[in-house]
Amino acid sequence: MSRVKLGVNIDHVAVLREARQVNDPDILQALFVACANGADQITIHLREDRRHIQDVDAKNIMMHSSVPVNLECSINRDILNIVSGLKPHRATLVPEKREEVTTEGGLDVFKYQDEISFAIEQLHDSIIPVSLFVDPTLENMKKSKELGAEMVELHTGTFANLFAMLNSALPYSNHSIKELELPRHELSLRLEKSLEDIKNSAIYANRLGLEVAAGHGLNFHNVSEMLKIEEIIELNIGQSIIARSVFTGLADAIKEMKRLTTR
Ligand code: PXP
Repeated sequence: MSRVKLGVNIDHVAVLREARQVNDPDILQALFVACANGADQITIHLREDRRHIQDVDAKNIMMHSSVPVNLECSINRDILNIVSGLKPHRATLVPEKREEVTTEGGLDVFKYQDEISFAIEQLHDSIIPVSLFVDPTLENMKKSKELGAEMVELHTGTFANLFAMLNSALPYSNHSIKELELPRHELSLRLEKSLEDIKNSAIYANRLGLEVAAGHGLNFHNVSEMLKIEEIIELNIGQSIIARSVFTGLADAIKEMKRLTTR
């Protein structure tokens, strides 16, 4: 039975810790629980504003993880220097804006091609394979290949937002997505289109020789859609696992996601 690799993003444990500026919950405890309960990879994001993962966390996680570490970072030179020194198993380049709640959309591989190309070269010099977190378009796949990345991570945020507006209580909450307050048939059409974009991009990227991951907004309800796309070999999931763990504990939340991501 083949299984897609499950990358568990533990940033959200550090979000909780930073909310009180204490040392609890312990990020290393989260790492050990994740590794012992089915995480195939640990994903963390060392943000420029250090709102969750700190430099010392990244260093400790690199030292103690029993599974590969996928370190997300921006194309900021200071961050790239730190990442090059940490030597993660892979670096994923992501866009970053200080004011955002979380990563919004993929990297603009056309606007920032020079900076991305420089970043990839620097990371390759340190023998770190590079993934680019991009929106699922054919142009982005082609450009990512041209820029020298080994992998793309398809941004699934648009799909996840549409899925949540159609299939959850989100539209009735304070966090309803205003621009998606549309008739259900319109949401369904857009959802279908978002899935087609992900599928077509995954197939094309795979043909170009890129490995394909996906992530952002994936949860226990929508993840099955990703498993239908054979070219996707890795899913990076954070928020929904940590949210579930408040009720079930981290070990059970990861075990359940692992069960769901078994093809
Ligand atoms: N992949 C990337 C590149 C991300 O930036 C994030 C969010 O940090 C994730 C995956 C995980 O997203 P989520 O927390 O919504 O599961």
